[in-house]
Amino acid sequence: MYVPPGEVTNDMLGRIMDTSDEWIVQRTGIRKRHLVDGAGTGSLELGVKAAEAALSNGSLAPSDIDFVIFATMTPDLYFPGNGGMCAARLGMKNTHALDIRMQCAGFLSGLQVADAFIRAGVYERVLLVGAEAHSGLMPWPRHVWDVLWGNSEGPCDPEWYQKLTGMRDRAVLFGDGAGAMVLEANDTGDGRGFLGFVMETDGTQWDKLHVPGVGCRFRPYISHDMVDALGGVPIVEGRQVFRMASQLMPAAVNSVLAQTGRTLADLDLLLMHQANLRINEAVQKQLGLPDEKVFNNIQKYGNTTAGTLPIVFHEARTEGKVKDGSLVVFTALGAGVHWGAGAVQM
Ligand code: UT7
Repeated sequence: MYVPPGEVTNDMLGRIMDTSDEWIVQRTGIRKRHLVDGAGTGSLELGVKAAEAALSNGSLAPSDIDFVIFATMTPDLYFPGNGGMCAARLGMKNTHALDIRMQCAGFLSGLQVADAFIRAGVYERVLLVGAEAHSGLMPWPRHVWDVLWGNSEGPCDPEWYQKLTGMRDRAVLFGDGAGAMVLEANDTGDGRGFLGFVMETDGTQWDKLHVPGVGCRFRPYISHDMVDALGGVPIVEGRQVFRMASQLMPAAVNSVLAQTGRTLADLDLLLMHQANLRINEAVQKQLGLPDEKVFNNIQKYGNTTAGTLPIVFHEARTEGKVKDGSLVVFTALGAGVHWGAGAVQM
């Protein structure tokens, strides 16, 4: 995993919008997040650093990788996607790369795609990256960032303070960060690997989480008016997304366990997308799981969208919660609306 060095506490956000540590912790569990300071570094850079860490962790060279999958909803450029540039930055030559745009379900989808390609014998070893630079979605001018980082004493320009307060329900949720995994074929017959996935989409709910402006149905696809009207800032119907996530993620976990002939009693660890600690507590409660069978780290990173699952997996593993032979289930729900679960025998 990799997160940019700049840490933003809830109190720091209170310098540029009407919010408080108390509100954010109570409603979301988030205490801080990492954000990129300034233009120039995007999700590609964060993803490359996570990919390098994953390769080094597996004692692998870029030439060992047959296929790259890059999941992000905050790509460096409108096109091309980050995947090919990531492969090039790692020094790969002619390695095919696929870009996934599945928002908070991006990494989970990537796991399913990687597993399917490996099972089909198309590729042997796949590098999967999930990375986001949400700070790029925040259209705040430099003087606002300077107040946030404490480079300028402030106070924040009142017009921007008001605009930011209008987007505070979203601005406090997201963090920048990346994670990566290498998945490889296992022909030993020892039963280790992904056992199955349950993936679903309800496109009628697209408007519950979306970016209203910037797109090729507009002429031109981006305009000054659009930017001034904050058309590049995501819209989140918070309560409805909260409800969907806390109902659909447990249903997906139950389905994937049933599909793979396992039960909740067999489950060793549930790793959930990190959008809101309260959502994850509701999921845990619905499934009746004890604390030792779940692991969350949204408190430190906020919602890093396609980055959450690999980041939470990395930290759970580092803390010794992912043991050889344990049954781990990943679950996520994101804009689309896409959701699902994948079960893996470690
Ligand atoms: O991965 C998917 C991405 N996103 C999500 O999954 C989001 C899921 N939803 C949520 O996490 C929660 O719905 C939120 C954290 C976004 C919002 O929490 P909520 O408990 O649903 O609050 P609310 O939007 O109903 O707002 C309650 C009040 C409002 O004030 P009034 O109208 O009652 O006076 C908001 O203006 O809280 C206010 N509020 C805030 N106050 C301080 C909203 N955001 C903030 C804030 N600081 N950051």
